[in-house]
Amino acid sequence: MARKDFLVFGAPKISEDEIAEVVAALRSGWIGTGPRAQAFERRFAERVGARHAVALNSCTAGLHLALKAAGLRAGDEVITTPMTWCATANVIVHVGATPVFADVDRATGNLLPEAVEAAVTPRTRALLPVHFAGRACDMDALDDTARRHGLKVICDAAHAIETEWKGRRSGTLGEVSAFSFYANKNLTTAEGGMAVTDDPALAERLRILSLHGVSADAWKRFRADGPAHVQVVEPGFKYNMPDVLAALGLRQLEKLDAWQRRREALWAFYDRELAGLPLWLPPPPEPGCRHARHLYTVLVDDARAGLTRDALREALRRRQIGTGLHYMALHLQPYYVRAFGFQRGDFPNAEFISDRTLSLPLSPAMTDDDAEDVVEAVRDALRQGA
Ligand SMILES: Cc1ncc(COP(=O)(O)O)c(C=O)c1O
Repeated sequence: MARKDFLVFGAPKISEDEIAEVVAALRSGWIGTGPRAQAFERRFAERVGARHAVALNSCTAGLHLALKAAGLRAGDEVITTPMTWCATANVIVHVGATPVFADVDRATGNLLPEAVEAAVTPRTRALLPVHFAGRACDMDALDDTARRHGLKVICDAAHAIETEWKGRRSGTLGEVSAFSFYANKNLTTAEGGMAVTDDPALAERLRILSLHGVSADAWKRFRADGPAHVQVVEPGFKYNMPDVLAALGLRQLEKLDAWQRRREALWAFYDRELAGLPLWLPPPPEPGCRHARHLYTVLVDDARAGLTRDALREALRRRQIGTGLHYMALHLQPYYVRAFGFQRGDFPNAEFISDRTLSLPLSPAMTDDDAEDVVEAVRDALRQGA
């Protein structure tokens, strides 16, 4: 039986207190970057274990600024994963550097440390790992590669607020980590992001670059005691987060622990109910590590299932269930094929995932009935396929 309403993939959970905080920001008269963004930065930094945080209008902005601040330029290479959203590699292109992909583990979707090591050349300047779906990359191995070759480590932590690698929280896993608060993320500000680092000078540089390259932000400039003049110290960008959006983040932060428990419960339900079907389910987190449970991605074992991922996706859509696709291997996207000459066969594990992956709805906004609808629809579709 199809549901009456469409189950939107990754639907955000927005409650009255978040709405009230946004309204309070609007009523305060300070709607741009100001006290709420500052408070959000402080609390977010604490949450992920970092000393400094700069609130931005996207994770993409955070990655771009981190690469810019690292001084990357034409001819430099940055090693990253093809199993990611295009933003991760696009920003490498934006700073004029060359994205170099390394293959991933088939089960986890995370970079294979040995593939990263093999991709290092004399031109490599940085590693840009992605904690895929909220599972930490093997940071011991990646840090070791970085140390031996003198590389920066910048983490794409878009999925990874709650992530931990062997007791290290996500804000400590790279020199800079960039988080996403896009609408379907574990915490959302509609659009938004945060760059975090332990290095105070780097944090200041990121902040300056995020606001035109001027030496004082709006909160400093327009207060009664603000400076008479500001100086442009370098050509920056316009990447700051307004208080109207930071208001959402402030209230959402308080709920992350409860939401994580809900995500874990839904995850366990899927693990239990989908076991035995012709699907590969996400493996459990590595010992001593915490998984942010951002995406529940299954791989369709098409040979056994008798139907492809796309057919399963369509069957779920007809049952009013929205799904996600994380990811179509980035090296096979037209721009990357054209600009860098990648082809099928270059990264077999990423391609294996790309051809079979499907992300099921997972959000604290879901009810138990929603989760049961998902399981029933998956089971029915696979039964018909068989
Ligand atoms: C792995 C990954 N990196 C980067 C981004 C970009 O995040 P934003 O939309 O906040 O710029 C996303 C967003 O979906 C993502 O999933």
